[in-house]
Amino acid sequence: MEEKKKGKSDFRYDTGEAKVPWAAIGENVNTDDISEIIKFLIPGKDATDYDEQLLKVKGEIEKLREKGKYATKLSLGSKVKELEEEAKKFLNVRYACFVTNATAGFEIGLKFSGLKPGDEVIAPAITFLSTISYPLEIGAKVVLADIDPRTINIDPEDVARKITKRTKVIMPVYIGGYPPDMDSIMKLAKENDIMVVEDAAHAFGGSYKGKMSGTIGDFGSYSFHEVKNINALGEGGIVVTNTDFGEDFPKSRFGGFDIAHPIEKWLYDVVALKGKGDHYTAAGNHSSTEIQAVILLSQMKRLEKIIKIRRKNAEYLNKRFEGIEGIIPCPLDNDEIKGTYHLYLLQIEPEKLNGDIQDFEEKLTAKGVTQIPHFAPLYRFSYMKQLGYDTEAIKKTCPNAEEAFLHRFTHLPLYPITEEQLKYMADKVIEAVEEMRR
Ligand SMILES: Cc1ncc(COP(=O)(O)O)c(C=O)c1O
Repeated sequence: MEEKKKGKSDFRYDTGEAKVPWAAIGENVNTDDISEIIKFLIPGKDATDYDEQLLKVKGEIEKLREKGKYATKLSLGSKVKELEEEAKKFLNVRYACFVTNATAGFEIGLKFSGLKPGDEVIAPAITFLSTISYPLEIGAKVVLADIDPRTINIDPEDVARKITKRTKVIMPVYIGGYPPDMDSIMKLAKENDIMVVEDAAHAFGGSYKGKMSGTIGDFGSYSFHEVKNINALGEGGIVVTNTDFGEDFPKSRFGGFDIAHPIEKWLYDVVALKGKGDHYTAAGNHSSTEIQAVILLSQMKRLEKIIKIRRKNAEYLNKRFEGIEGIIPCPLDNDEIKGTYHLYLLQIEPEKLNGDIQDFEEKLTAKGVTQIPHFAPLYRFSYMKQLGYDTEAIKKTCPNAEEAFLHRFTHLPLYPITEEQLKYMADKVIEAVEEMRR
């Protein structure tokens, strides 16, 4: 019997008109669901007439529904594509891929960098745990570099000391959105044939010497988690590259599914990803949804304004802290460097004070300025020890990270806080330091 040719399809959806259409999509989103989303995003249970108002909104949605259909494409559709096009334009980069989070983007960048078990990856000691998740997961060796005590970003001189023949990747991190010394990192990478995967989780919208932050190395990945300057409904990431590996981003995002290659008796081939140096790895599933893309597209329109307010607030704090003994204010923009002001990096000089950052944070908290501990050096967590790393020995090679964490630095919020809160915070920081002055 002759084999029947299967029709063109994008696998999960859109199999065309038929008497009995393929129903893999399940039930559509409907008015009840939309109303639940509104209820979640704008809760108001205790408000009088909340339910009544919500019912009215629901009625209006029903009326809208008469004018159009519910969306039936909810994952990896036209909105994800539109977001990626916007991101490419905004970042001036060849390829951009919307994924579940920045961590998934690092994974993709590291796979294409050809990272294998036993290879070495250099990352800063002070960063979020997920910068090194994928290398640890596959049994690559993580080498932690010390930090520059002024910016808390990776110190290229320590990177240079720690490069070996097995170093495959360097992962500079933009702490708080402030660029690391990318020129020095790129120089080291070039001289030693090492790939660079930028952890630009905090840095969407910043720039370094005319290039957008996150687009300088081989790969860069941004986070749109709920605490970031803009977010994709709680979670989201964009991975970018100017290398040809970007052609394979869609495969790397979704299981290695290769829609360019239809195969006999099924739909398309499934391929492994080929990284630098002929190394193949299997792809994971890091697909993101249309609704997340819709939200991120909407928030991107406000990004410039958000960064501007954050910058203005940081400038205000710096002005207030000018000349105050014991405070080192946050590095600000200059002609070549534009941060995103995700965090205000405040350092104190314990040698001029009675006490260190722990005492300072305690005082500030008591005065009503909440402190969130941020970024303990990664060698301090159990996971590295449990995976066989000699964390005490690593600590000894990162004295600046240890000193910064234990004694010197904290973060202050920049947005969305009111002018009154900003002024109050500045007053209390100064007051706390003055109380601690020797
Ligand atoms: C420096 C840094 N890198 C990576 C990440 C991970 O981002 P995501 O949660 O989008 O994976 C974060 C998240 O807060 C971060 O702060």
